[in-house]
Amino acid sequence: MTNTEVKQQTPHGGVLVNRELSDDKKQEKLKNAESLNSLTVSAWTVSDIELIGIGGFSPLKGFMGQKDYESVVSNYQLADGTVWTIPITLSVSQEEAEQYKIGEEITLKGKDGIIYGTMELEEKYTYDKKLEAQNVYGTTEDAHPGVKKLYERGDVYLGGPITLLNRPDHGGFNEFYMDPSETRAMFADLGWKTIVGFQTRNPVHRAHEYIQKCALEAVDGLLLNPLVGETKSDDIPADIRMESYQTILKHYYPADRTRLAIYPAAMRYAGPKEAVLHAIVRKNFGCTHFIVGRDHAGVGDYYGTYEAQEFISQFEDELGIQIFKFEHAFYCTECGNMGTAKTCPHGKEHHVHLSGTKVREKLRNGERPPKEFSRPEVADILIKGMKQD
Ligand code: ADX
Repeated sequence: MTNTEVKQQTPHGGVLVNRELSDDKKQEKLKNAESLNSLTVSAWTVSDIELIGIGGFSPLKGFMGQKDYESVVSNYQLADGTVWTIPITLSVSQEEAEQYKIGEEITLKGKDGIIYGTMELEEKYTYDKKLEAQNVYGTTEDAHPGVKKLYERGDVYLGGPITLLNRPDHGGFNEFYMDPSETRAMFADLGWKTIVGFQTRNPVHRAHEYIQKCALEAVDGLLLNPLVGETKSDDIPADIRMESYQTILKHYYPADRTRLAIYPAAMRYAGPKEAVLHAIVRKNFGCTHFIVGRDHAGVGDYYGTYEAQEFISQFEDELGIQIFKFEHAFYCTECGNMGTAKTCPHGKEHHVHLSGTKVREKLRNGERPPKEFSRPEVADILIKGMKQD
């Protein structure tokens, strides 16, 4: 089989959405956009505009209207029955909402003044924040970072299709930026038929490395796809993480079977519901497999260790991306290697376990965590990064 004959993963909903214009049309539209009513949106919304525009959120063509929104919040599917678990919405205050008329086209500007896109305003609707919090995040407590963000949002959602006019600049990460059509072309060039996607918002530790490599034993390639959009303040900044990913790949991974690309989305910390979104997006990027380990996209004690795995299981057939589920992985001093309860017979006293807080404390003191927990090359980058913080 030649590379061009490699069968590609079907995008979610069947078609890879592209909400960008050809260059000349884009220039014309940008000129027009200056004269439209404009709305200044958050960095989070800019990342949503980008992901809709490039097809990462296929089949979405814009911000959700009321039918899709309510169906997602109550039934975890779009109004047409396609699986979808996280609302992708554009919020404004009541006062702002009054400034725009249904049917008009609005310019969407970032806080930096750049026009990222336009939206055809089809709907304005109010929504129940508590219901969204409970059904999406599993809690109504504002101590949850995703719920806190939700409560801070305006009371009205604007729905309608968007056009992406400027992709955000990803600064130092631009060389690792690929849209779904580009990752798909890259997989075809590499001749990879089966690709496992890995979501992370952390540096790659030995447990991550272990589950990635277990998966890599069964597929052609690994797409290390770290989320680099907005995260909570105590997560390790994306620039430090990106340096650590490049280093670990260089030292410990086969170059011809791994690729690094950024996932420019904001982190919702919605655990099980976000695991499904993460899988859908990686499917759109062309992955055939996706890893869901312990407490995927979790925060604090809001979700059970395997809740994301249990939740995603019910959608596996419809999702059309195979989920690799891994139990909690650790280094066992008796086995002398990594394992999980499935493969290691020894007690907890033999397992190297460090909490995130403990690791951060060590790194801040300039101390490497044990090599059974983190590769020394990675630890050194994190120590250096934490000093500059
Ligand atoms: S996440 O918020 O992006 O999910 P993180 O970067 O910690 O957080 O995890 C990335 C992936 O690795 C997730 O699928 C998570 O479930 C998995 N994972 C993290 N640590 C472990 C571990 N010790 N054992 C098994 N899976 C893990």
